Amino acid sequence: MRLAILVSGRGSNLAAVLNGIRDRRLPNVLAVLVVSNRPAIPALDIAARHGVPTVVLDRASFGNAGARDAAIGLAVSNSGADVALLAGYDQLLRGPYFDKFAGRTINIHPSLLPRHGGRGMMGAAVHAAVLASGDVETGVTIHEVTDELDAGPVLAQVRVAVQPGDTAEGLAARVRAVEHRLLVSTLRSLPARDSPSDLSGRMAAGPSAEDARVDA
Ligand code: GRF
Repeated sequence: MRLAILVSGRGSNLAAVLNGIRDRRLPNVLAVLVVSNRPAIPALDIAARHGVPTVVLDRASFGNAGARDAAIGLAVSNSGADVALLAGYDQLLRGPYFDKFAGRTINIHPSLLPRHGGRGMMGAAVHAAVLASGDVETGVTIHEVTDELDAGPVLAQVRVAVQPGDTAEGLAARVRAVEHRLLVSTLRSLPARDSPSDLSGRMAAGPSAEDARVDA
């Protein structure tokens, strides 16, 4: 599978994927491009260290968000990617992106969608919302991306227990570690060319027992 990765910030999920490729835990994956919507973010340095080409397509360089999204779709398409991964990409992708890139686009989200998804539900806000809601568990979701935020079909989920006295930072750190493992296991079993419905069927069986465990 030829993989393009879209990022906006820290890049720990990007690093998990690129380390997985480097360590031959993802023999089926070739990272062909990293796209950022922000200049000078840590994720770009991570990509450079792994020798993956990068492009910055920031909103300020385009007349409107649709034109920027079309440029992102075109860059991904021109990279020859089969699959695009949103790994901490913090903006909605609109129709023009999907018009340019016909392959599969998937996203990783740090909660059990549909809980705590949608507008504004990013980063620390997600974990703060989980704690404020009194939920006793949260988790990680990997899902197909559509032009509706955090709403595409779920490919894989892993639960993470909320512990008494948890802070948003502590919960975020435990969830992030699970994200990295689930991302690698999901990419490892992601077929390059199957239809999305075939993929959903396959993933419904779940990742390996190790990857699917509930983190205490
Ligand atoms: C992760 O929690 C991811 O699930 C969410 O944004 C965060 C990005 O973190 N979509 P990082 O940039 O990969 O460290």
